[in-house]
Amino acid sequence: MEFRRVLAERRSLRAFADRPVEPEKIERMIEAARWSPSSGNRQPWRFTVVARDDPRRPALEESLTRGNAWAKKAPVLIVSGARRDDGSIVENREYFLHDTGLATMSLLYRGVDQGLLVHPMAGWKEAPLKEALSLPEDFRPIAVIAVGYPGKTGDLDEETRRKDEQPRTRKEIGEVAYRGGFGEPYRATLPAAPPKRYEIDIPLRFRDIDSMGHVNNAVTLSLLEFGRIRFFFDLFGAQRVEEIPFILAEANVRYRIPILLQDPVRLRMHVTDVARSSFRFQYELSDPRDGRVFTEAETVQVMYDYAAGRPRPVDASFLETIREYIGG
Ligand SMILES: Cc1cc2nc3c(=O)[nH]c(=O)nc-3n(C[C@H](O)[C@H](O)[C@H](O)COP(=O)(O)O)c2cc1C
Repeated sequence: MEFRRVLAERRSLRAFADRPVEPEKIERMIEAARWSPSSGNRQPWRFTVVARDDPRRPALEESLTRGNAWAKKAPVLIVSGARRDDGSIVENREYFLHDTGLATMSLLYRGVDQGLLVHPMAGWKEAPLKEALSLPEDFRPIAVIAVGYPGKTGDLDEETRRKDEQPRTRKEIGEVAYRGGFGEPYRATLPAAPPKRYEIDIPLRFRDIDSMGHVNNAVTLSLLEFGRIRFFFDLFGAQRVEEIPFILAEANVRYRIPILLQDPVRLRMHVTDVARSSFRFQYELSDPRDGRVFTEAETVQVMYDYAAGRPRPVDASFLETIREYIGG
């Protein structure tokens, strides 16, 4: 899978399918973790893999907090951790937790890369977990990672389902990244993660529903198209289709939960990753009443010169308009 898709696909969702995970997929995850960087190349991380049929599994599940009961359905639980003394210490900086985190990230991404759902957890009790796996006294368990194939959100209990249906949130770039001195917000030049997105409500028509009673992905693509056209009409004052200067080169639609005829649907979209002659739109279709996310999607547009019959560079005025909009 393309790396940027792995980044976009990783979500800490909670619904697992019954399907077991092939052992070689777990091995590839561990292999990815092995090649992670570590201070002094000390490789302090340790991963304990506990499959569903492992005799230690019930005791490990017992150590999970009530709020993480959904994780018992995951075919594989991996416990990450490290010993302080196995890691590098530079001046008084202890790198064992940091380096285990790095390795865990590689492990997670390799899981996503293979179509798996991976979800790290801090919600477990340390004493029973250590006892369940016979972890040494000086060993610090860090996370329990639930691994399996994605299941149906609808199979979760009400409370857990609500968590999975919430839109993702992140701090602004300027809050977490500084330029120069501490606290001086890093101002992004690319229009990624904007404070403001283009939003439009889409009325569903009866013909948008398929024989299963859902809006399927083929129709979803046309809802996104509706959004793109309106985006250009509203932001750029385009009035005719000839004034829409791009062609659609790629589309990726991630179904999350069904859209039914009676659902109000809000499309939120923004521009990301402007390259020489292409740019991406990211989309979210959600229910404006409670924020449940129906679908996430991404498309790549290539700026096109119809007269010359070839791609053309993204022009400065296009970028400027987008920047003004998201800043405004
Ligand atoms: C160290 C760590 C501990 C976490 N603990 C839990 C947990 O106990 N239960 C849970 O449901 N999610 C847990 N999460 C998942 C986070 O809630 C999740 O990563 C965060 O909300 C961002 O969402 P995303 O991973 O889907 O991008 C944990 C994540 C990390 C990295």
